[in-house]
Amino acid sequence: MLIGIDDIERFTWIARNVRHRRSRRRAPLIAVVEMMLRALEARDPHTCGHALRVSQYSAAVAIVLGEKPHAVDECRLGGLLHDIGKIGILDSILQKPGQLSAQERHHVEKHPEVGAAIVQGIPFMQPILPFILCHHERWDGKGYPAKLQGRDIALKSRICAVGDAFDAMTSARPYRPQQTLDFSLSQLSAGRGTQFDPQCVDALFVAIETGTIQAPPFAKEHANLSHTIPTTVSTLRMLQDASSTE
Ligand SMILES: [Fe+2]
Repeated sequence: MLIGIDDIERFTWIARNVRHRRSRRRAPLIAVVEMMLRALEARDPHTCGHALRVSQYSAAVAIVLGEKPHAVDECRLGGLLHDIGKIGILDSILQKPGQLSAQERHHVEKHPEVGAAIVQGIPFMQPILPFILCHHERWDGKGYPAKLQGRDIALKSRICAVGDAFDAMTSARPYRPQQTLDFSLSQLSAGRGTQFDPQCVDALFVAIETGTIQAPPFAKEHANLSHTIPTTVSTLRMLQDASSTE
């Protein structure tokens, strides 16, 4: 599923028509997020569609884990922006149909730090920073960029890592076809306690079993930005209001 220009136009319309006495203060925030989504979509529509699904999966996992509504909303927004650093990856690498060389992989693995550099100067984006910087850290400490381990990795990053891996496996990539749901779940189980936080894997399984998450292609009717935009806008309000009272 690719995010479309129409979806982003709808986001823009909603953003511009938010009626609120503090709308002037929110305008820069919404403009920044809109700009990021547009840049990501223009750069790589596949990455943008992936971001949308990771947003949904991360929110579903957070709900199963009993996270509070504001944390679930952060997962929605964080999932949407987690790969924003891929804006800085060369086309020849991002679209490469074959396996990456060690040098190319090293370049790709810079995207969390590139993304963090993009948002780090924006105060209201600070709650989203762990999604961007740490979604490739691993429970066993063998991830990147900082090789953090276990609960030293923020819960929101551990949630995002599971959603990210699930979508990576259940989506077609330039170098391989979409994996089956059974295979993808077996890979998540195999990574439980090594690559992934066990409780986050378990929560994803619960979300699938209860129908909260439907793997592609069955997720099509849910994988639409129009379902995410209202919550995203409310998340933006919350984040900016929180930063304005600090
Ligand atoms: Fe990533």
